[in-house]
Amino acid sequence: MFMPTPYNNRDQGRIKELRHLIYEYDYAYYVLDQPLIADFEYDQLFKELEDLERKYPALITPQSPTQRVGSAPLKTFAKLQHKVPLRSLNNAFDRNELEHFDQRNKERLDLSKICYVAEPKLDGLAVNLCYQNGILTQGATRGDGQVGEDITHNIRTIPTIPLQLRGRNVPNILEVRGEVYMPKVAFYQLNQESKLKGEKPFVNPRNAAAGSVRQLDSKITATRSLAIFCYGIGEVGQGNIPTSQNRVLMQLKEWGFPISPYSQLVCDMDECWAYLEKLSGLRSQLPYEIDGVVFKVDDLTQQNSLGFTARAPRWAIAYKFPAQEVSTQVLAIEVQVGRTGMLTPVARLDPILVGGVVIRNATLHNESEVQRKDIRIGDRVLVRRAGDVIPEVISVILESRPENSTPFVMPQCCPVCNSEVVKDQENTIARCSGGLYCPAQRKGMIKHFVSRKAMNICGLGERIIAQLVESDLVKDPADLYQLTIEKLSTLEGIGEKRATQIVSAIEQSKKTTFARFLYAIGIREVGETTAQLLAREFGSLTALMASDEEQLQKIPEIGSVVAFHIVVFFRQNHNCEVIYKLQEEGVFWAEDGIYKEEDSHHLPLLNQIFVFTGTLAAMTRNQAKEKIQTLGGRVNSHISSKTNYVVVGTQPGSTLNKAQNLGIAILDESQFQGLLD
Ligand code: IVH
Repeated sequence: MFMPTPYNNRDQGRIKELRHLIYEYDYAYYVLDQPLIADFEYDQLFKELEDLERKYPALITPQSPTQRVGSAPLKTFAKLQHKVPLRSLNNAFDRNELEHFDQRNKERLDLSKICYVAEPKLDGLAVNLCYQNGILTQGATRGDGQVGEDITHNIRTIPTIPLQLRGRNVPNILEVRGEVYMPKVAFYQLNQESKLKGEKPFVNPRNAAAGSVRQLDSKITATRSLAIFCYGIGEVGQGNIPTSQNRVLMQLKEWGFPISPYSQLVCDMDECWAYLEKLSGLRSQLPYEIDGVVFKVDDLTQQNSLGFTARAPRWAIAYKFPAQEVSTQVLAIEVQVGRTGMLTPVARLDPILVGGVVIRNATLHNESEVQRKDIRIGDRVLVRRAGDVIPEVISVILESRPENSTPFVMPQCCPVCNSEVVKDQENTIARCSGGLYCPAQRKGMIKHFVSRKAMNICGLGERIIAQLVESDLVKDPADLYQLTIEKLSTLEGIGEKRATQIVSAIEQSKKTTFARFLYAIGIREVGETTAQLLAREFGSLTALMASDEEQLQKIPEIGSVVAFHIVVFFRQNHNCEVIYKLQEEGVFWAEDGIYKEEDSHHLPLLNQIFVFTGTLAAMTRNQAKEKIQTLGGRVNSHISSKTNYVVVGTQPGSTLNKAQNLGIAILDESQFQGLLD
């Protein structure tokens, strides 16, 4: 019979001591950047701890420094609803835009001077770390900002992320935001190894970091030398948070989080500018990629008053470093057909390295752009790459133009299906008139439909989609749901195993959300954010389909162009047919709500509809709306019999009367606050 080794008090004490020492050495090394002992000594202590834990497995705790790598790989990533959304940032590209940002903030706050914290903008991926009573309990990706993926098992392997916090004043619940990145050296090494193994290299350190964090097997992540810098706080339970960003950073450091050594308080535009110049000079020497500087209003009370727009905080801006430029030769100009039939000329370039990424193609946008810049085959051109943006040709180096070159002209027939090409009124946008007769448009449509932010069907890459469309197995998105293992196995390069995975991914995609579905069906001008907005405002497909341009334009974020495209889309019989077919095939979502039923236990206000009237004192309407949405509820602009609550601020409008007549629950601000709490 197995008998655990009885505890020896001395060993037990030593285990505690070793853990404590290792925490302290980690902190000195990763956070303070002041190693206290030699690597060799550290390794000895670590080994001693491992040996003791092997002897007394019952004494192992999840916070032990030996317990970073988990054992069994996961099967899938669970989705996590963020308690406080992870937002994006607005960008500035020149001094003017930066000054404009500062000016607007001053006007809004009625101040003559605002101090900002300047921080390097790390080019990695945002994560949310959750600590309960000082212990790391969860790590999540940003995802779409509202819902991310549970990557706790991988987060734990990143040595610079504390498993347990230091200090006494740690709130019982604390969410910390930061950027996980892969140092440049680790990126080059990883790609070197991939090349040797004949695998596809990562395009840049950010993709490598993202790929590493999204591994089901944490053993792989552990080998990827990831690191983190933290820069903010999300949800906080009982406990006090400093009142300025600068002090938040200091507090994070005390709790044990690595923060950028370059963050700095700057109090006027000249200081901002000096900081930018300093950092852009340092950029190439830093061991990690940065793509700009984030300026954040320092005073958190001021941040609060400024609030947020739909996408990003008003109190912060990302100044993006100017793009990197190189010269190369145009080998050919090809014309691509997109999912809406738009023709885009693309320059095939002599491959060239820009900022660690090999560039082979550059978009030429449209015909008039090519003519304006007079880009011709054989020309030497200046190419620009800025962050994530598709590389573009800036200008032609005319001195090196070959003698017999000819100007570019757009083809009059679609290069894929030969249908007539039609141009818009301004003569800039050319479209193939083939519609879904055109295989390129069909491929584009299917590619969009299955993409991650749409129906999220994994395994259907470009090559498979091309075969599905060319073999006529898939004419519209609904046909995907008729695919079987047998049918898929007839395609080139697909065995039974792949086919089974794809069929199961298609099956799983049937359960979706209204917002994803709206995005997936590919209405022109309806991107992810607009789809989410429409889902929230209308709640049901029937309501949206029945709406007209006027009603749509009542939503502040929806302009006439978007409204027009939505109405035109639903007016087309073939679009409605595809929608009905999809529903017949079993695609569904919880109607009247953008969240799935299974989430309801986290969402106490699930599907509750709120309408505001009058001005709130403690928060802006947008802030209130966000709080409601995070709890699963929705905010409508107009009252109806479906409204569950009307929240009344000072100077309410006629909504209050209507609410009384309809017998709808009326909340004053403090009752509303009570509900939120
Ligand atoms: S603050 C609401 N600070 O940039 C505040 N973001 O473009 C949002 N990022 O998703 C973020 N370094 O992944 C902030 N020092 C920094 C950052 C930073 C990099 C990333 C982050 C965010 C993206 C927004």
